[in-house]
Amino acid sequence: MWQYTPRVAVVRGLRTPFAKSGTHYAHLSALDLGKLVVAELVQRSGIDPNTIQEVVFGNVIPSVKAPNIAREIVLGTGLPRKVPGFTVSKACASSIQAITSAADMIFRGYADIVIAGGSESLSDIPILFSKNFADALVSSSKQKSVGGKLGSFRKIRPKDLAPDAPAIAESTTALTMGESAEKMAKENGITREAQDKFALQSHHRAAEATASGRFKDEVMTVLVPPGYDDVVETDNLIRGDSTLEAMAKLRPVFDRKFGTITAANASPLTDGAAAVILMSEDKAKALGIKPIGFIKSYAYAATDPFDQLLQGPVFALPVALERAKIALKDISVIEMHEAFAAQVLSNIQWIGSKKIAQERLGRSEPVGDIDPEKINLTGGSIALGHPFGATGSRIVTTVCNELQRTGQQYGLLTVCAAGGMGVAMVLERE
Ligand SMILES: CC(C)(COP(=O)(O)OP(=O)(O)OC[C@H]1O[C@@H](n2cnc3c(N)ncnc32)[C@H](O)[C@@H]1OP(=O)(O)O)[C@@H](O)C(=O)NCCC(=O)NCCS
Repeated sequence: MWQYTPRVAVVRGLRTPFAKSGTHYAHLSALDLGKLVVAELVQRSGIDPNTIQEVVFGNVIPSVKAPNIAREIVLGTGLPRKVPGFTVSKACASSIQAITSAADMIFRGYADIVIAGGSESLSDIPILFSKNFADALVSSSKQKSVGGKLGSFRKIRPKDLAPDAPAIAESTTALTMGESAEKMAKENGITREAQDKFALQSHHRAAEATASGRFKDEVMTVLVPPGYDDVVETDNLIRGDSTLEAMAKLRPVFDRKFGTITAANASPLTDGAAAVILMSEDKAKALGIKPIGFIKSYAYAATDPFDQLLQGPVFALPVALERAKIALKDISVIEMHEAFAAQVLSNIQWIGSKKIAQERLGRSEPVGDIDPEKINLTGGSIALGHPFGATGSRIVTTVCNELQRTGQQYGLLTVCAAGGMGVAMVLERE
């Protein structure tokens, strides 16, 4: 049984505006952002908070002090304290994992109303001490005399005092995501021009969608605490006035000499949160709620991180389509997470390749051709931003709303994730 019967409904979704890290939300944590979005989502939906049975949240760089962000959101938003919460981590697919874990609970009949989503603050990353210095601090805390406490630091050298910040890198390959995307660009022959053109389109579409009010149902206004005088109404990373000429002037970041990836064709470091309310179809009907969509199928996959790291969606896509019992040609709305333009264009290249189908997917024919012009019609992560733990939830809501707007039946999303992982999900309108 691959499909949810009865179905799992996406009742509505919401996100904070996404902001370049270090800007509007510089002093907020992922928890703060998660609380803002969940409180507003519950309030907008009009559902009785007493009927919520679980909160599931995705987060990639957790707080050392409050790692179970989902439960903290319950306690920090005034939701009934009886509501449990758990937190999931699957790199950039974390909020999709939150949503599918919640959907699975509903499918099993263990719950019929669940909030799922994700949050990330790249303004609030834990800065660690070196192991030597941390050991000295612990040893010092156990000493009773001042001399003993000071003595614990006897062997500390200046280099031990250097802070240890987390890198956006694979622990297995030691390559950053950007370096891995450079490798993909080179191996697949994705040019700088093609990447910049794709990124420019993302910005122009996001700017148009924002100006036309397309996001008004899915993006809330944030009055930034504690002063509440900074009012954030829209994403602040979109550059509607971007030009190919300006992009072409930027220096590559991850391979300074021969590289093609720049600040313009990569997703930026971002803060933000997003969430959806999921219900069993029966519950939504009983409450007289018209859902914005239904989850038809999903599939996760992983590939060797030493190969092409961000090709996970290529492996997940055919499985999700098979589980939905539909073909790529049946899908009208496609959203592909844009970690890097080089990654999206590489994913599309592999999805359409007969050689890849035969050599890597065990299929005689490719899944099909995806026209890069037909995806991400309201922009993607390059322009809107990419708070790791929140992006998947943003995309689920956008696909559902786009299906509602266009009256089309099937939508598809893909998200690549660190560790060589990827996810594909099929959504339907009614
Ligand atoms: C690529 C990256 C290093 C750039 O960071 P940054 O240097 O802080 O980026 P900035 O926003 O300051 O942009 C750098 C420059 O490019 C310019 N720029 C950025 N986007 C542009 C665009 N669309 N058009 C023209 N110029 C642009 C900026 O104006 C800035 O110029 P300046 O130095 O003259 O002010 C960072 O965004 C990053 O690490 N991204 C990848 C994140 C990642 O790995 N995610 C995981 C995905 S799986």
